[in-house]
Amino acid sequence: MVPMLYATTATTRLDHIRANLDAIRARVGGRLVLAAVKADAYGHGAVPVSRMLEATGAADCLGVATVDEAIAIRDAGVRLPILKLSHALGDDEVAACVERDVDLAVVSAETIDQVGRVAAGLGRTASVHLKVETGMRRIGCQPDAAPDLARRADAAGLRLRGLFSHLPVSDTEGGREFTEAQVALFADVLDAVTAARGRVEIAHLANSGGVLMHPGSWFDMVRPGIMVYGLLPDPTTPATVPLLPGLEWTTRVSFVKDVAAGESVGYGRTWVAPRDTTIATIPVGYGDGYSRLLSNRGRVLIGGASYPIVGRVCMDQTMVDLGPDSTVATGDEVALVGRQGDEEITVQDIADLMGTIPYEVTCLINARVARAVVG
Ligand SMILES: Cc1ncc(COP(=O)(O)O)c(C=O)c1O
Repeated sequence: MVPMLYATTATTRLDHIRANLDAIRARVGGRLVLAAVKADAYGHGAVPVSRMLEATGAADCLGVATVDEAIAIRDAGVRLPILKLSHALGDDEVAACVERDVDLAVVSAETIDQVGRVAAGLGRTASVHLKVETGMRRIGCQPDAAPDLARRADAAGLRLRGLFSHLPVSDTEGGREFTEAQVALFADVLDAVTAARGRVEIAHLANSGGVLMHPGSWFDMVRPGIMVYGLLPDPTTPATVPLLPGLEWTTRVSFVKDVAAGESVGYGRTWVAPRDTTIATIPVGYGDGYSRLLSNRGRVLIGGASYPIVGRVCMDQTMVDLGPDSTVATGDEVALVGRQGDEEITVQDIADLMGTIPYEVTCLINARVARAVVG
């Protein structure tokens, strides 16, 4: 294999991710914990994260969005229970999950019948979790349909392992009333399903917002995602659990040059030096997932000091203003996300500048970026 020589590296801190899960466990008492590892563990690397979670016992279950994500984790030898959080589309997807012991979400009579038929054809028992609509209005059966659908799953020979729903505003104070109504509705649905066919093994509702703000949403298992990676779902969510950043993103200075007052830097000539200065070029750009929205707005750390991005972020390179008296040299380490001395740039800082959420910032870091795993 050709060694990865690219200076721009995203480093996953497995030790921090594990500490975050330990802190989540401490908060939710004896409940089970499903760690969402979809979207390549929110850009942190689903395989190394899942392997660590299994080896340490830090999580009881893994949550994925796609069948390919589940397959990649199973192919890496991870045996932890996996739940595909959305229903499978098509018999091939169902079969791929059933063959690999991946639990499936079911959302309707059709999806229940499909899993039952495919599993019977394979001579296997499929495990399913019935997703109920309580306010997200994305996927899920209507609350009053849940008892009949649960019985239908039983009759189809499925193992009805879970009943679940999802919380769209659990992470803000303004969403408290809505979330509490969802929790109450979900509890009613759980009671109705229990009356119809006995208790499901695992009722689950809480995402990170639920873990952080709504103890009533914890039921038998919680499903945190973003907080596993050390980030709050919203800047206003109370940090009721201590969290450590799951990712550092670094590069190295590739070029240093003097720029005279009045000279412009970069495409579109959007920045003109107000004084004689020194500019560093760093080999990272929107082609790596370092957003162009950071043009003339973002900053980086070099040698423990903070320097502004000047001009537009290019596809492969970005320029920063070192000021007139800089000693920064080619090869110096640059923190795009992370800490140097007393200075820190967080994923939330970048999300704020981009006008987005931290989830998107880490998911944007793409395959061109070299990957390292520590801890
Ligand atoms: C069904 C479901 N459960 C749990 C999560 C985890 O959410 P969060 O990352 O906000 O904790 C997600 C992610 O969006 C999800 O779709």
